[in-house]
Amino acid sequence: MTFSLKRQPGGSLAMFNRETGETMHPGAGPWAEANGLYLAGTRLERLLCDISAPGPLHVFDVGLGGAANALAAVTLHQRLASGGRRVRPLRIISFEHDPEAPRFALDHARELGYPRGHEELLEGLLESGLARAGGLTWEARWGDFPLLIQQEETRADVVFFDPFSPRANPAMWSLPTLEGLYNCRRRHGDTILVTYSSSFSVRAALLLAGFFVGEGPQPNPRRATTLAATALGLLDQPLDARWLARWRRDREPWPALSPAGKHQTLRKALLDHPQWQSDLPQSPKLHSAKQHSEKQHSAKQHSAKQHSAKQHSAKQHSESLAQGQEPSPPSGRRPRKFHRAPPVDSGKKPAGKRPPHGRTRRPS
Ligand SMILES: C[S@@+](CC[C@H](N)C(=O)[O-])C[C@H]1O[C@@H](n2cnc3c(N)ncnc32)[C@H](O)[C@@H]1O
Repeated sequence: MTFSLKRQPGGSLAMFNRETGETMHPGAGPWAEANGLYLAGTRLERLLCDISAPGPLHVFDVGLGGAANALAAVTLHQRLASGGRRVRPLRIISFEHDPEAPRFALDHARELGYPRGHEELLEGLLESGLARAGGLTWEARWGDFPLLIQQEETRADVVFFDPFSPRANPAMWSLPTLEGLYNCRRRHGDTILVTYSSSFSVRAALLLAGFFVGEGPQPNPRRATTLAATALGLLDQPLDARWLARWRRDREPWPALSPAGKHQTLRKALLDHPQWQSDLPQSPKLHSAKQHSEKQHSAKQHSAKQHSAKQHSAKQHSESLAQGQEPSPPSGRRPRKFHRAPPVDSGKKPAGKRPPHGRTRRPS
C-alpha cells in the first residue's frame, strides 16, 4: 500500500505517500489548504457567481490525489447553489496518473472527513472517469500530465497546480509542461493558477512559460505560495525587481530539468519579461504577458530606432537589478546593494524609480 494517514499539527489527517516520502497538504491539512490556498487564491467564489461570464467555469485540477482541492470546489459550488445564488455551471478536469490516490481517499472518507457526502460522486469518477451532479461536471484524465497537457484542447479559467514537489516530481514543473498549461489559457478572458511552491525555479518557470507571477495567500503563515495569471491586474502582489535580484543569487534558479546549455537564453528571456515593465495597463482581461510581447514586437517595427535605444537602457536596468541592485526606495533612502553580486554601475543610482505596488519602471 503506497498511502497511509498522517496527523498534521492542526489535528487533521492527511495522506502520506511512501514512494515520494511526501504528504498531501502538509501542515495546514487538506481541507484548510484546499480552501485557504486553492479556492481563496483563485477567488473561486467570485468567479462562480459571475453569471455574466459565458458558459461553465473550467477548473484544471492538476494532481487529483486525495481530491481535497476538487471536493472543496464541488462543496463551494453546491453550497452557493443550495443557498439560492445563481451560479455558473462548474466543469472540473482532474489530471492524475495514480488512481490509487483518490481510491484511498474514498476508502478513508470517514477518517479524512472532507470526502464524506461525496462518495457517490467520487465513485462515479473512479468508475467511468465522469461524474455529474446539478450544474457540475467532473472529468478525470488518467495518465501522465506532461504528455496529456500537450494534447489538451479545453481552455482553463482556473488551475489548481498541486503535484508533488519539484524534487520528487520534476517533470510536472518543467518548462515544456508549464508551457503546455499556458497554451490552455483563455484567449478572450483570464486564466489564474495557484500553487503551493514559491521556489525561484518554479516562479521562473511560470514566468518563462508566459504567465505573470505574484505572491499567493498563506493559509500557513510560514509558507509562501504563488499565483500566476495571464493578466498582471489579477495579481495583488506581483513579483518585482527585488525578487528578480534574489532570483539572480539563488543557487537553483532554473526551471526543473532545463539543460545547462539553455540557461543563458532562459536568463535573457526572464530579464525581458513584460512583468518588469511599468507601462503595462493594470486592468485584467486585456493583456497577457505573451500578447504584450507581440504588441511590443509591432511597436518595435514602428519605431525601431527609438525602441532599441529604450530596450538597451531597460536591459541594462534589468541586468543591474538582477545583479543585486534594488530600485530606488520610495523614501529617498539610498538603494540597497547586495554583497554577493555588486551592480555593474556600482555607486550610481538606478535609472528607474520604484512605482506604486513595488513594480519596476522601465527607464525612459
Ligand atoms: C500533492 S498530490 C495532490 C493532492 C491533491 N490535489 C489533493 O487535493 O488531495 C500530487 C498528485 O499528483 C499526481 N501526479 C504526480 N505526477 C503526475 C504525473 N506525471 N501525471 C499525473 N499526475 C501526477 C500524484 O499521483 C499525486 O496524486
